[in-house]
Formats: sequence, structure tokens, C-alpha cells
Amino acid sequence: MSALKNANDELLFADDHHDGEKLSPGPTWKVMLVDDEPDIHEVTKLVLDDFVFDGRGLEFISAYSGEEAKNLIMDHPDTSLMLLDVVMETDHAGLEVARFVREDAQNKTVRIVLRTGQPGQAPEHKVITEYDINDYKEKTELTASKLDTLMYSSLRSYRDIMALETNKRGLERVIEASANIMELQSMQNFTEGVLEQITALLHLNTDAAYLKIDGLAAAHEGDLLKVISGIGCFKDMVGLDATKHLSKEVLRDLKKAIITDHNYYEDDRFTGFFKSIRGSENLVHMNGIGKLSELDRSLLELFTNNVGIAFENVELHQDIEETQREIVYMLGEAVETRSKETGNHVKRVAEISKLLALDYGLSEDEAEIICLASPMHDVGKIGIPDAILNKPGRHTAEEFDIMKTHAMLGHDMLKNSRRRILRAGAVIARDHHEKWNGAGYPDGRKGEDIHLYGRIVAVADVFDALGSDRCYKKAWPMDKIIDLFREERGQHFEPRLVDGLLNNLDKVVAIRDHYAD
Ligand code: C2E
Ligand code: SIN
Ligand code: SIN
Ligand code: FE
Ligand code: FE
Repeated sequence: MSALKNANDELLFADDHHDGEKLSPGPTWKVMLVDDEPDIHEVTKLVLDDFVFDGRGLEFISAYSGEEAKNLIMDHPDTSLMLLDVVMETDHAGLEVARFVREDAQNKTVRIVLRTGQPGQAPEHKVITEYDINDYKEKTELTASKLDTLMYSSLRSYRDIMALETNKRGLERVIEASANIMELQSMQNFTEGVLEQITALLHLNTDAAYLKIDGLAAAHEGDLLKVISGIGCFKDMVGLDATKHLSKEVLRDLKKAIITDHNYYEDDRFTGFFKSIRGSENLVHMNGIGKLSELDRSLLELFTNNVGIAFENVELHQDIEETQREIVYMLGEAVETRSKETGNHVKRVAEISKLLALDYGLSEDEAEIICLASPMHDVGKIGIPDAILNKPGRHTAEEFDIMKTHAMLGHDMLKNSRRRILRAGAVIARDHHEKWNGAGYPDGRKGEDIHLYGRIVAVADVFDALGSDRCYKKAWPMDKIIDLFREERGQHFEPRLVDGLLNNLDKVVAIRDHYAD
């Protein structure tokens, strides 16, 4: 009865105390004393009165029964250490508390030290192995100095466990932040996302800038450093040349990071450096980050590592988009100024080529490259005189010789690009009029000496050209087209590709109908 009354008083007291602590998180270690004998509480508090560990004193929470201890641990999950009596309202009340703390309350961090006056009731070995208890003391052996030692070892171990927990939560934040930036596909979103995530990661609200080095990767002197996005004091510098607007101090940091090829820390500033396989180099600079803990630093390192990977991802995506824009531009010009063929011819050739590539066994990725590159197969027609290109009738032999140069012209227009799609476009432009039997142009190459992309596009191009009206001919009916492919199987075209075309004729016709002129 008296234990129960005590429990209520103590709960009230504990609650008040808890609220007070929320307002000003005191630098103390919470120690819960669980014992049905009030004397034990008094003595323990007396002995540990001025105990300090790691600059923090103790704060006691008293429970006078097992039931009360269970309630209090729920209210104080941040308790560092529980000194726990075994025999209270029952012979095993303390053991039941230990089980409750670990299993019901799921509190794995609080250190539990069992203190018993009757060792027989709870044999040490059995208790430590069966319950998740960290130490076992007989009350008689707990002299003042032994109690001190116990406090040190328990609190040290609690502190280390908490550091690991914090570390783990930090890692979780890094993973989340990294996942967030992986979603971003445009460079502008990406740079803003990186700044947002990096400040959130460190719980900072600070000045930060994302910069891009424009210029040759190897030659840093004289390169342009452009501010891509910025927050805080860098906000107004977006789009500007950093070398003209940033302080000498910041520029020195940037240079250090570039030269060392790594992140750079100086005072309360951080400069992250990342470089993609293509050699483009980006920087993140932050001011006013204060003194970073060891943990924050390692989280920052990890995050910038991931930013580097995400950066490649965005570049790749951007590469495709920019390439598509370039294609549209080039073809637009070609169609506008030169050939009378419509844009839908190249769309049909693209889709049919992709279908043939997949049927041939190429990967989705490579088929997509062919799809994006094949619209450029005739881009060299830009260089053919109009009188020849748009001649309403048959070509003379001389005219046709000039016409044939469109393959190499297209190749030469594209071959210097570093972009994968345009490079693929170059080999397609060069090889799309080669023939399997070696009778084609421009080089008269034969069989597998002809680039596979060229062999594929040859089938798609002729299929579509035959089915369309041209300035020099009318569209052919389907049965005539099929006859031509049967005849030219192994002559003009690779047999396996003709089979791919004829086996998928329904799909090919569906593409043609979908992109009808
Ligand atoms: P294109 O019109 O896009 O035709 C591409 C390819 O489809 C031709 O490559 C050819 O292999 C095939 N093809 C198109 N129409 C016919 C046809 O009526 N009969 C046969 N057997 N095959 C056909 P090719 O022959 O190397 O020609 C390349 C490009 O040269 C053609 O592209 C077209 O722009 C132009 N061209 C070819 N012959 C003439 C012509 O007699 N008059 C004019 N104005 N242009 C021609
Ligand atoms: C690649 O994307 O495969 C390499 C770089 C390029 O050619 O643009
Ligand atoms: C490319 O340059 O990536 C396309 C051509 C090839 O695969 O050889
Ligand atoms: Fe052509
Ligand atoms: Fe064509």
C-alpha cells in the first residue's frame, strides 16, 4: 500500500521534472533507482551526490516497486542506467522489470545493473544469460568506491551505445538525402536539391553555393567558375562568374579542393568536390557551418560521394535530352532547307530499327541508342544539291554518284561528337547503304564488316522508302515490298534481319500506320 502511494507521488514528481527538462535539456545522466527499501535510495543518492562523468552530473529517478519502474521507464526512455533490486513485491519483480524494459518497452540502450540482497533468489549466471542485464552486484559488495566504478563503466558503455545510435541515425539521413537527389533529373533541380539536402543533413541553415567549372578539366588556370545555384549570401550570384564575385578566401578553398581532387575543410567552411567520368567538375561550397563533429564530417564525406554518383546519373540523362534536342535541330534544318521527305519517315525508321534491334537480341539500352540515332541516317542529304536531291525523275549515273556522297557527308558531320548517340548516328549514316554482299556504298564493305547499326537501319530505311511516295517514284504495294526483301535476303540485307522484319510484319505495319504521313 505504501509502495503504491509512493509510486503516485513519484510519478507526479517525475512528470514535472520531465517537462522541466524538455524546456532546458540538462546535461545530466538519468539514473533510475529501483528498490522497495527507501534507505537504499537515500544511501545511493548520498554516495553519488557529486558524481560527474564526462562533464555531466546525475539525475535520479526513484521507483519503489517493479510496477512503478515499468511506468517510469516508459516516461524516461533516455535513462542511462537502472540500478535494479530483484526481490520487491514478488521474489522476481526485478527480473520481470528487466524483461519488460528489453521486450515490451524495446529499450535496448539503458544499462541495467541488478542489485540483490539475496543472491540465492537470482543466481548470477542464470540471470545474466537469460535476461539482457549488463551487470550483477550483491548489495553487500557495493561499497562507495565500487559504486563509483560501476557508474563509470556503465555510463561509458551507455555513452558509446548512444554514439553508435546517433551515427546510425545520421547514416539513415544520408541515405534518405541521397535517395532524394537520385530522383532529380535536370541539372538545375539537382544542384538545388544537393544544397537543400546538404544543409538539412547537417541541420544547418547556412550560405551555400553549387558551382560548375567551365573549361578544360586539366587546365584550371583561367577556367570559368560559374555559380549554378546558391542559397544565403550566394543567392544573388547565380549565373555569375565566381572568380569575379567570390571572396579571395572562398576562391582559395575552391582551388584547394580542385587541386587535391577532394573535399576541403577550413575553419567553418566546407568545399565538396566531385568529378564525373566525363571529366566535368563541380563544387559545393558552404560558409558558416560551425565546428563539425567527427560524425558530421564522415556523413558529409559519404553524402558528397553519393552526390558524385548522382551527378553522373543526371549528366547521362541530360546527355540524352541534349542529344535529342540536337537531333531535332539538325533534322529540322535538313527537312526545312533540303529534302522533301517528311519528319515521319525518320520516326518510322527509328521505331522499326529499334524493333529489329530487339528482335536481333540487342539489349534495351542499345536498341534505344539505335532508336535515337537512326533518324540521322540521311542527315548528309543536307549537302546534296537541290537539283539532284529533289529531281522529279530518275538519276543519271553522275547524279547518283553525287547522291551517294550523302552517307559519308552525314558521317563526317557527326563523327567528332563525344556523345554516344551522335557517334552511333555517324556509323549509321556511313553504313546504311552498304550491302551484305559487298555491292553497296560508300566503302563496299561486306557482311559483318558493316556496322550492325548500319545493317539494321538499311532494312528499316528501305522498307519505309519503298512504301512511301518519293519525288522520283510512287509508293510500292506491300506484296511487292515483301518480294523485294525475299529476293535481297543475303544480297542487299543480312538474312537474320530480313527474317526479323518478315516475322514481325504486323508490328512493323502498325508502326507505319501509327506514323503515317
Ligand atoms: P530514299 O528515297 O530514302 O531511298 C532509300 C533507299 O531505298 C534507296 O537507296 C534504295 O535502296 C531504296 N529504294 C527507294 N526507292 C526505290 C525503288 O524505287 N526501287 C528500289 N529497288 N529501291 C528503292 P539508294 O538507291 O542508295 O538511294 C539513296 C537516296 O538517293 C534515296 O533515298 C533518294 O533520296 C535518292 N535517290 C535514289 N534514286 C533516285 C532517283 O532516281 N531520283 C531521285 N530524285 N532521287 C533518288
Ligand atoms: C558514353 O556515354 O558512352 C561515353 C561518353 C560519350 O560518348 O558521350
Ligand atoms: C558508339 O559510338 O557508341 C556507337 C557505335 C559503336 O557502338 O561502335
Ligand atoms: Fe540514305
Ligand atoms: Fe532514308
